[in-house]
Amino acid sequence: MSAQGIPVMILREGSQRTTGKEALRNNILAAKVITETIKTTLGPQGMDKMLVAGMGDIVITNDGATIMKQMDVQHPAGKMLVEAAKTQDSEVGDGTTTVVVLAGELLTNAEKLLNQEVHPTVITEGYKKASEKALEIIEKMSIGVRPSDEKMLNQIAMTTMSTKATAGTSEHLATLATQAIRQVMEERDGKMTADINQIKVVKKKGESMGQSELVRGVIVDPPVSHPQMPKQVRNAKIVLLNVKIEVDKTEFDAKINITSPDQMKSFLHEEESMLQEMTEKIARSGANVIFCEKGIDDTALHFLAKKNIMAVKSVSTGDMEKLAKATGATIQASMKEVSPAGLGEAKLVEEVKFGNDKRVYVRDCKNPHSVSVMIRGGSDHVVDEAERSFHDAVCAVRNVIEDGKVVAGGGAAEAEIAKQLHEYAVKQGGREQLAIEAYAEALESIPLTIAENGGLDPIDVIADLRSKHANPENKWFGIQVESGKVTDMVEQKVVEPSRVKQQAVKSATEAACMLLRIDDVLTAKGMKEGLGGTTPKP
Ligand SMILES: Nc1ncnc2c1ncn2[C@@H]1O[C@H](COP(=O)(O)OP(=O)(O)OP(=O)(O)O)[C@@H](O)[C@H]1O
Ligand SMILES: [Mg+2]
Repeated sequence: MSAQGIPVMILREGSQRTTGKEALRNNILAAKVITETIKTTLGPQGMDKMLVAGMGDIVITNDGATIMKQMDVQHPAGKMLVEAAKTQDSEVGDGTTTVVVLAGELLTNAEKLLNQEVHPTVITEGYKKASEKALEIIEKMSIGVRPSDEKMLNQIAMTTMSTKATAGTSEHLATLATQAIRQVMEERDGKMTADINQIKVVKKKGESMGQSELVRGVIVDPPVSHPQMPKQVRNAKIVLLNVKIEVDKTEFDAKINITSPDQMKSFLHEEESMLQEMTEKIARSGANVIFCEKGIDDTALHFLAKKNIMAVKSVSTGDMEKLAKATGATIQASMKEVSPAGLGEAKLVEEVKFGNDKRVYVRDCKNPHSVSVMIRGGSDHVVDEAERSFHDAVCAVRNVIEDGKVVAGGGAAEAEIAKQLHEYAVKQGGREQLAIEAYAEALESIPLTIAENGGLDPIDVIADLRSKHANPENKWFGIQVESGKVTDMVEQKVVEPSRVKQQAVKSATEAACMLLRIDDVLTAKGMKEGLGGTTPKP
C-alpha cells in the first residue's frame, strides 16, 4: 500500500511469494524428500531404481546422476540438487549419490540449528569453514598411487563398479577400464593426463558382460562399403581421407552439346578415368584400407574392390580423429597429399557382424592413443547400466592417474574427516562450532547409510566406527558390509579416488549453502502448484 492507501502491484497478478523461514523450510523439505528417495541406492548393497519415462521407456539404474536426471524434478530447490549431482558426474564421474545424500543431510542438520535460533549465515559460514578443513584433511591423509601400479588401479575400478548391478562381472570390466586408461594416458609438462574421450564405448545387446572386449584401435560404425571388398585385411596400411572420391559436379547448371555417340562415350569415359586415376593413386601409396569421411562413387568402389582394397565411407568426424590417434595416420584433405608417409597401421582390420548390424574393427594398433571398448550384455537394460558403471570406473581410474591420490571407501574417509572436524570445531568455539559439528555429523551419514542399506544396525556401526577412529592408527576403518564388521578398508581393497571425495564435499556444501541463504521465493504466474514456496508433494 502506498501512503495514500492505493495498492502498489509489484508482481504480476497470480504470482506467488513465500518469505523468511517458511521459504527456507520448504526448500529444505524438498531437498530432504529427494535425498530420502536416492539414499537407498548408496553403497555395495544399495538398491536400484526403475524409472519410467513419459513415453514408457524404462531405465533401471543405481547411478545417482542418471536417477536425478530422469526424475524430472520440478521443485526449484530440488533442481539445485540435480545440478550438484550433474556437476559431480561431469567433473569426476563418480560419487553422485554421495553428493545428494551429503547435501540433504547438511540441510537436515541446518534445520535443527535453525530450530535452535542459529542464523542461516552463521550456519553457512560454519559449513564453509568445515568444508575447507575437510578438503585439507583429505589432501593430508590420502595415499599416494603411481600410474604404473596396475593392481591398485584395478582395485579402484572394482570399488566403483561393485556398487552397481554389474557387480558380478565387475572384475572383467574393471580390468578393461584400467587397461583402456593406461593405454590413452600421456605425460604433459611432467603431469600425467588421460582423456576419457579417447575411449570409445560401443554397446551391443547379446552374449554376456563377460564377453565385453577392449580393442586396441577403433570400432568404426559404418560397414565396409562394397560387397566384393575384402572383409578382413591383415597388416593393414590405412589411409584416412577427408575428401570425397567422386567427380566434382559443377555448382551451376551447365549445358554440354553432344552431337555424336562417340562424344558421349568419351565424355563418360573421361569421368571414369578420373575415378580410376584417384583409386590408382591410393593403391600406389601402398594403402589397403580406406576410411573416408565423405562419399565414395560406386564406380570408384568397384575399382577399389578389384584392387582388393577395403573402403569404408561416411565415417564420422569423431571416428576419423580417433583413427588418426590410434593408427598414426594423417587425415588427408586432398587426393594430392595421399602418400606412403601419411599412412597408418593396424595388425588387423575386419568387419564383424552382430545380427543384422555390422561394424568395422581396427585392431592391434601399435601403441594406440585411442581405444574402443565393446560392451555386451543380455538385454538393453543390462548393457545400458554396464555402460554407465564402466564410465564411472574409467573416470575413477583417470582421477587417480592424474592426481595419484586415493582414500579408503566404505565410509572410512568420511568417518575420519568427521572425527577430525569434531576436534577442529572445539577449537573454533562460538556458534560456528555448532555448524562445524553439524557438518561432521552430515559426513557420518555416508557410513550410516551404507550400513543401513546393508541391513546392519546403523547405531551399533557408528558407535563402533567412532571408537575405532579414536585411535589415529585406525583411520582407514570402514564398514565391510558382507560381514557387518568395522575393519581396515585398505586391506579389504576398497579404495576410491581422493578427487571424488573432494568434489563431493565442494558440490554438496555449495548446494546446501546456496539453499540456506534463500529467504524469499517468488514464483511466476503459470507455474504449477507445488513449486517454489508451496509445499512439495513427495
Ligand atoms: N565393498 C564395499 N564395502 C563397503 N563400502 C563400499 C564398498 N564398495 C564401495 N563402497 C562405498 O559405497 C559408496 C559408493 O556407493 P555408490 O557407488 O552407490 O554411490 P556414489 O559413488 O556416491 O554414486 P554413483 O556411483 O551413483 O555416482 C562409497 O562410499 C564407497 O566407499
Ligand atoms: Mg559409485
